[in-house]
Amino acid sequence: MILAPLRGVTIRCFRETFADAILAAGFTEAVTPFVSAMPGLDPLADRELAGGPGDGPLMVTPQFIGKDPDSLRRCLRRVREAGFATADLNCGCPFPMVRRKGRGSGILRTPDILRRMLEAGCEVMGEGRFSVKVRLGVDSPDELERLVPLFNEFPLRRLAVHARTARQMYAGECDWQAFERVASAAKMLVVPNGDLPVAPVDAAGRETMVGRAFIRSLGEREDAGELLARYAEASRRELSGDRAVLGRLKELVAYWRPLPAWSRRWNAIKICRTLDEFSLVVPWTLDH
Ligand SMILES: Cc1cc2nc3c(=O)[nH]c(=O)nc-3n(C[C@H](O)[C@H](O)[C@H](O)COP(=O)(O)O)c2cc1C
Repeated sequence: MILAPLRGVTIRCFRETFADAILAAGFTEAVTPFVSAMPGLDPLADRELAGGPGDGPLMVTPQFIGKDPDSLRRCLRRVREAGFATADLNCGCPFPMVRRKGRGSGILRTPDILRRMLEAGCEVMGEGRFSVKVRLGVDSPDELERLVPLFNEFPLRRLAVHARTARQMYAGECDWQAFERVASAAKMLVVPNGDLPVAPVDAAGRETMVGRAFIRSLGEREDAGELLARYAEASRRELSGDRAVLGRLKELVAYWRPLPAWSRRWNAIKICRTLDEFSLVVPWTLDH
C-alpha cells in the first residue's frame, strides 16, 4: 500500500513522527507531497528531500510538479544522486491556478509537453523507476483513457489514478468504471486512488494508494494525543514560531473532526491561537 501525498500533511516530519503507525497500517512506500521542478530551484533545498531518502523501511518517492522537461531532468539527477531510487510526476493537481498554467492536471491538456516530461523522467530515473499520479481528466472522466497510448510509450513504474476529474476537486463520487477502462488499456501497473479504506489491496486484489482514510484513522488511536505531542515537538525543531506549529497541528487534526472523540474538541481547537491554548484543549498532548 502506498501512502498518498497530501501537501501539508504527509510531509517528512509527519512521516518520521508517525513512522510506526504508517508501517503498522501496511504502507511500504510514501510519495512525497509535490516539490516544484522549476528552473533555478534546487530540490534538495526543500525540507522534503534534504538529507536524502533516509534509511527507514518506508520507501520514499519524491514527487515533482512542473512543465519544463529540462528542469525536471535537472531535479531528477539531483535526487538520484542523493540516493532516491524512484520519482513521480504530478499530473493530478486540480487547483485552477496550477492547472491553467499547464501544471498538475493541466498537463493532460498539452500532450506534447507531457510526452517530453515522461521522456525526461524515464531517461534520468531509468526503466521502471518513474511513475505518474494522475486524475481521470480535467473536465471529463474519459480524458485519461484517450491519453493511455501516450503513457504506454514509456516504461513507467506505475500510473496511480485518483478516480475523479480535476473539476471535482476532492469531493463527489469516484468513477471506478472510467478507472477500469484506463486500467485495461494501460500496459503498466495501474494503482487505484480515491476514498479507499486502509487496506493493502482493493476488491480486485490491486495494490492501493490511500491518503485521507489513513490520516482519519490516526485520530481513533489511543495514543493519538501522545503522537500529536511528538509531532508538535518535532515541528518546533524545524519551524520558527508556535503559530506555524499550530497551523501544522490543526491541518492534521482537521481530519479527525468526524470522529466522536474529536468533533466537539475540534470546535475549540480551530479557534486556538497559541500552542498553550491548544494544550488546554488537548491537555495530555503537550508538555512544554
Ligand atoms: C490536502 C491535500 C493535499 C494533497 N496534496 C497532493 C500532492 O502534493 N500531490 C498529489 O499528487 N496529490 C495530492 N493530493 C491528492 C491525494 O494524494 C489523493 O489523490 C486524494 O486525496 C484522494 O485519495 P484519498 O481519498 O485516499 O485521500 C492532496 C489531497 C489533499 C486532500
